[in-house]
Amino acid sequence: MTEKIKYDGNRLFVEEIPAAELAAKYGTPLYVYSSEQIKDNFRRLRKAFGIVPGARILYALKANSNPELLGLISSLGAGADTVSAGEIFLALKAGFPPSSISLAGVGKTDRDIDFALARDIGVIIVESDEELGVISERAAALGRTARILLRINPDVDARTHPHISTGLKENKFGININEAGETVKRALRSKSIDLLGVHSHIGSQVTEHAPFEEAADSIREFVIRIQKEGANIRQIDLGGGIGVRYRNALKHSLLPAERKEEPLIDLNLLAKAIKDRLSFPGCEIAIEPGRYIVAESGVLLTKVLYRKESAGRTFIVVDAGMNDMMRHALYSAYHQIIPVELNDSAYSPADVVGPVCETTDAFALQRELPVLRRGDTLAIMTVGAYGYSISSNYNSRPKPAEILVEKDYARVVRDRETFEDLI
Ligand code: LLP
Repeated sequence: MTEKIKYDGNRLFVEEIPAAELAAKYGTPLYVYSSEQIKDNFRRLRKAFGIVPGARILYALKANSNPELLGLISSLGAGADTVSAGEIFLALKAGFPPSSISLAGVGKTDRDIDFALARDIGVIIVESDEELGVISERAAALGRTARILLRINPDVDARTHPHISTGLKENKFGININEAGETVKRALRSKSIDLLGVHSHIGSQVTEHAPFEEAADSIREFVIRIQKEGANIRQIDLGGGIGVRYRNALKHSLLPAERKEEPLIDLNLLAKAIKDRLSFPGCEIAIEPGRYIVAESGVLLTKVLYRKESAGRTFIVVDAGMNDMMRHALYSAYHQIIPVELNDSAYSPADVVGPVCETTDAFALQRELPVLRRGDTLAIMTVGAYGYSISSNYNSRPKPAEILVEKDYARVVRDRETFEDLI
């Protein structure tokens, strides 16, 4: 539930600024973020996980790596979960301490590995036996010891969209939990490797407790097994994946209630489940949320270009396209779409589509919407995570600007791209 982006009467506000004013001033399509919402989300997580001894929250940069947002999140005391040398670079620039940064990824290049070793980041997460060999060699060549976590694949069904499930044995991620024995032995033997612990990430937008509990149970068993082989386990990282609610992000008497609202993870129960299963003496426990921290903080403002009736179907053509926000095109993801100025017109089903030359360029199909006309501004809700970060220039469309709001103050945190940027 978005608390900092809400209607005051019939007008949508981002914190204390009317969304319509932002659209008029900065143009559309426009990403707008609420800094207070990010702070609230982070504090809620920190409070819940406060009961877990040695708990650390690493923000997954892939969700949104806007440098100003990263600065804000690092100032709150988060660490950084990265997946490329580029993300390490951004994390360091934003002020995350090197020791708080982890590097994951199933296909790290030699350059990624060397960059991580040279910057002496906290840990490198190893995803295969062959990769362990490469990291060990490169660390030896640089005269360093690589601190690593082994990413195990626990074969747990995260019960989320198949495209964002990562912890099943048929997924490419991690080392199968039943086949990791040799890799552990090899890591313990290597002079240039310090095996700090174990990592797992089962998937994203997880809305049930059970998959996390199953993963934690598997990790616990695995840790006990490898401790017997001499591993000194000092860190366990349970990955990210805590889901958010996309449906009914905002409720209002003039908005239709959205069906099939997602269940929400109870953070206190999750923290307790993790504490009960994964507390080992002298061992820190990390989680790597991305979506939970930033998703609800963001809206994408877009203008209606045309209303088109065709063969009994209504299309609302807007000025944002799938290149600006891919989640519907990629996963048929549901985002609430609401007018920035509500009126009491009747609702009827329409498709909200973009200008890009692809049939999948849509934000919603057969969605109940009020009567919309050319020039009306809409807000696509809950786009702070995996919105701008997976945008592209497809169809040679310059990317939107990004605005950060703090109470009654808005500032540009990324300029709208120009045609020159397309060269
Ligand atoms: N850690 C690892 C190793 C990950 O692969 C991910 C996400 C996270 C942490 C953060 O997960 P989160 O807390 O944000 O769920 N583009 C998709 C989501 C892809 C997630 C990829 N990995 C979407 O828009 O739903």
